Amino acid sequence: MDRSDRGLSRRGFVKNAVAVGGAAAFAACLQREESVDVPQAVLSPDELPSRQHAWNEFLSTDDHGNDVPPRHHLLLALEYVGDGPADAADERDQLEAAFRTLERAYKRGNEGLVFAVGYGPAYFDRFEGNLKGVELPEPEALTALEAPELDEYDALVHLASDYGKVTLGAEEALKGELSELNGLEVEGTLDGIFEVAERRTGFIGRGLPAEKQSGVAGIPDSEPVPEDAPMFMGFKSGFEQTQASEDRVTIDEGPFAGGTTIHLSKLNLHLNQWYEQDSREQRVAKMFSPAHNEEDLVEGAGHNLGDSSRVAEVAAPAEEAARTKGTVGHAQKAARAREGGEPVVLRRDFDSTDDGRAGVHFLSLQRSIADFVATREAMTGADLADGSSVGPRTNNGILQYITVENRANYLVPPRERRALPEPVPESD
Ligand code: HEM
Repeated sequence: MDRSDRGLSRRGFVKNAVAVGGAAAFAACLQREESVDVPQAVLSPDELPSRQHAWNEFLSTDDHGNDVPPRHHLLLALEYVGDGPADAADERDQLEAAFRTLERAYKRGNEGLVFAVGYGPAYFDRFEGNLKGVELPEPEALTALEAPELDEYDALVHLASDYGKVTLGAEEALKGELSELNGLEVEGTLDGIFEVAERRTGFIGRGLPAEKQSGVAGIPDSEPVPEDAPMFMGFKSGFEQTQASEDRVTIDEGPFAGGTTIHLSKLNLHLNQWYEQDSREQRVAKMFSPAHNEEDLVEGAGHNLGDSSRVAEVAAPAEEAARTKGTVGHAQKAARAREGGEPVVLRRDFDSTDDGRAGVHFLSLQRSIADFVATREAMTGADLADGSSVGPRTNNGILQYITVENRANYLVPPRERRALPEPVPESD
């Protein structure tokens, strides 16, 4: 297919429709993905795990045992417009019915739908009481290199599927625009409780970034993103061995046991130098580690690495690489935050072309936001710039190629408490 045709292909079309959203985009997606029958649920809502974030057992895996994230993602940032605690019982029933509608209409997994609902500090501020055992701080700038907008939304819904018609259909159903979803009656909506204040969209998976790269700010016109890359920067991320397990990110005590937290940042990508001046060798060294480059470990996007980036086995300590090689790898730095050999964050991030800009919606799950902050500190590696030729940004992993636009924190309750959760009264 020649490049000018790419934008018209089915895959490219579906991504654009997901980005635009609305009834017309949903209808168009239904038509484009007409030949795909999306299965309804095989488990009833009562049979699903209590953890909203228990996605992995339902996701596809690749030949190496890595979980494969769904290809299309939609984030709905919500503002609470309901009547507050006074009418909470009715609102809660309505909202729970809305979520159960999604769970019945689509099988959980890539070929159907996975989703999770989180609540921000702004939502909990309207209650007396506390979250007992969960710290949910206001978001803040986490490095000296950024001045992000700090989101103040009440809630966030993260929807993901291999099919654009599923994420868009779920959105339309939640907004009360559909009476039927995938052949089942819509039994509840967000109506009168939440309004969608902002939507963010994206995609991840082999072929999608290459398809989406043309005419996007932050990516050079030469269309350098390789066809096998699941992400704009050209490499695979999210190996089985370099992700926290769902157990590691689950809150293990108190009223929100079984839940987790989301840190969501919006990153803009600036890939001119990355693709036009840096060599392939430099890109491998900056993304993984100098040793990965010297030992020629990464073929193409790195699918050959198997189920691990192998930073723990082959990369020198980050401080040593900074001193002796003048470059530190992103993965090499971030791995400093491991505890007991295991990463403490579970990354569920994806690329985006929202607003015509190349970006990443970096969504990560962790037991506490402090685990994210520690990991981000390790990734930032401000310490590595002392006494070496590594700068605060230059040759310091991938810092030079990203700017942080937004930050937000959310608490994802267990499913039993996902509809308008209440903190625990002080007296309890
Ligand atoms: C443009 C944005 C980013 C891209 C393209 C990216 C890409 C990658 C790649 C290719 C790897 C190595 C493969 C793997 O182990 O999954 C990696 C590892 C990792 N990244 Fe990122 N990353 C990005 C941003 C971030 C951010 C903002 C964080 C948050 C702190 C982060 C945390 C990590 C962690 C924890 C690891 C695994 C380290 C370990 O092995 O223990 N990344 N990333």
